[in-house]
Amino acid sequence: MDWELGISGYIAPATLSAAVRYLAESSTQEYPPLVWAGGTDLMPRMRMRWLDSPEQGGLQSLLSLRSVSELSGIEVVGDMLRIGSLTTIEEMRRSPLISAHAPALAIACDLFASFQIRHAATLGGNLVNASPAADTAGPLLVHQAVVVCAGWRDGSVDERHIPLAEFWLGPGRCALAADELLVAVELPIFPDSGWVAYEKHCRRPAKDISIVSITLAVEPDGDGGLCRSSLALGAVAPTPLLVPQVAELLAEGGFGSKEGHSRASRMAAEAASPIDDVRGSAAHRRHLVEVLTHRALDGIAARMGYSDFNGYEPPQRMTITQSGSALTNCELPPMTPQPSAELQEGDIEVNFTLNGGPMRRNIAAGATLVALLREDENLTGTKIACEEGECGACSVLLDGRAVQSCLTLAVECEGREVVTVEGVYAPDGELHDLMEDMLIEGGVQCGFCSPGMVISGLSHFLNGGGGGEQELARAIEGNLCRCTGYLRLLSGLERHAARLGGGVGLE
Ligand SMILES: Cc1cc2nc3c(=O)[nH]c(=O)nc-3n(C[C@H](O)[C@H](O)[C@H](O)COP(=O)(O)OP(=O)(O)OC[C@H]3O[C@@H](n4cnc5c(N)ncnc54)[C@H](O)[C@@H]3O)c2cc1C
Ligand code: FES
Ligand code: FES
Repeated sequence: MDWELGISGYIAPATLSAAVRYLAESSTQEYPPLVWAGGTDLMPRMRMRWLDSPEQGGLQSLLSLRSVSELSGIEVVGDMLRIGSLTTIEEMRRSPLISAHAPALAIACDLFASFQIRHAATLGGNLVNASPAADTAGPLLVHQAVVVCAGWRDGSVDERHIPLAEFWLGPGRCALAADELLVAVELPIFPDSGWVAYEKHCRRPAKDISIVSITLAVEPDGDGGLCRSSLALGAVAPTPLLVPQVAELLAEGGFGSKEGHSRASRMAAEAASPIDDVRGSAAHRRHLVEVLTHRALDGIAARMGYSDFNGYEPPQRMTITQSGSALTNCELPPMTPQPSAELQEGDIEVNFTLNGGPMRRNIAAGATLVALLREDENLTGTKIACEEGECGACSVLLDGRAVQSCLTLAVECEGREVVTVEGVYAPDGELHDLMEDMLIEGGVQCGFCSPGMVISGLSHFLNGGGGGEQELARAIEGNLCRCTGYLRLLSGLERHAARLGGGVGLE
């Protein structure tokens, strides 16, 4: 894999201060270090860059955040919720604190990509990547989030706080300085009486970027009016967009009447400045903003008991909820920080457990896990297909959670446990029960997709997942079958859930 040449050096500092100090010392270089979190944006971007101009290979070093424990965790501090930037989307999706205190964010995490992506993708990466379509952006805007950034100044770590509404400067650009890290996001606890609505309009539920997303938050004043409302739009402007004029209109009595909602929705559509692209035309996007804003307003007004909206139920794609309605009942703890590493150039030593046995190799910093598994270890059960994180054929377990090995750097597996389909056996060496259940139901189809499906199924059950058609379908939504044969696979998973006694259940 030639494009592996893209990384010249690798460092994984142990602390925030060591990380920002290294950034400060190397910020004057022609090519400053690349900060690496989950890699789900960076890996496809690096691959494209290498394909476009391979001569750039070997210029950039990589600073991994894998060992910096100060960037992890979700906690309540006073009347604020603080979320570490290294928190993964799946950890947020399953966090009771986020369901309770930032409900719009919980919904957006639920609709984010697939399990494999959510297990790797981080909050910090989603915000710093600065895509106008980022799923966490709108919810964090309506929840009035502030980002905490840190740099190395005058011999110590210096933090600054930037309101999220001022953080993005344009597509792919944000206010973070080249020598700063995003440490955390802080937001006020959303009141229990508040309502939120979120819809991500896209072509397919899993792994698709929004064509348009809208987030609405409404805080009733207990007297028939509102103390605050906020509307955010995604994928219709160069940056995620707040629409304060709609909030003003709603506060001035526009909320709760059909006429007021129509005016507010038209206003939202006028505020958008969408473009035509492969996912939708500008006109279609503008139209969607109007329709979705109307649905969100009507839906929340109906739930709050406004008579004009009696019996109104928005289409299923829109989720409306109040604080505290947990989407799952099974929390996922943050990963334990990995061992730190000094700056290294050339091949790098990596040590991890592979299918139960110790593994030690010297590899290029840019080598993917899938390349290591297939080319060096001859573990060809893990397939390479799209190489973009889209199909799930390369899925493996990393510390028990399914991830895509085509988006995972092998050096990032230091100290962790990797299981490929070849490692999925019962203790007596026979087929694993899950494989047997899939075989009995005829749920073993082409050899290309089946290994990834087994890994996703296992990850689901290992992490507290249960049975039920909807939940099991979601468990393998990150695995594309090109022959459209999901029914037998689902029967196999259903059989396994019954064998386990139903499991805990995530949904
Ligand atoms: C198949 C696929 C599906 C996807 N689906 C969705 C989706 O449904 N919704 C969505 O919003 N996104 C989606 N994405 C995009 C991506 O997964 C997210 O943006 C993700 O949150 C990025 O996080 P990461 O940890 O992987 O970031 P990385 O790729 O590691 O980094 C992204 C950027 O942020 C910088 N960075 C990361 N952390 C920090 C930090 N703490 N301080 C400073 N800089 C930092 C990196 O240097 C880089 O510039 C998808 C991507 C793929 C490949
Ligand atoms: S997701 Fe990795 S090859 Fe398709
Ligand atoms: S199982 Fe591989 S294409 Fe359907």
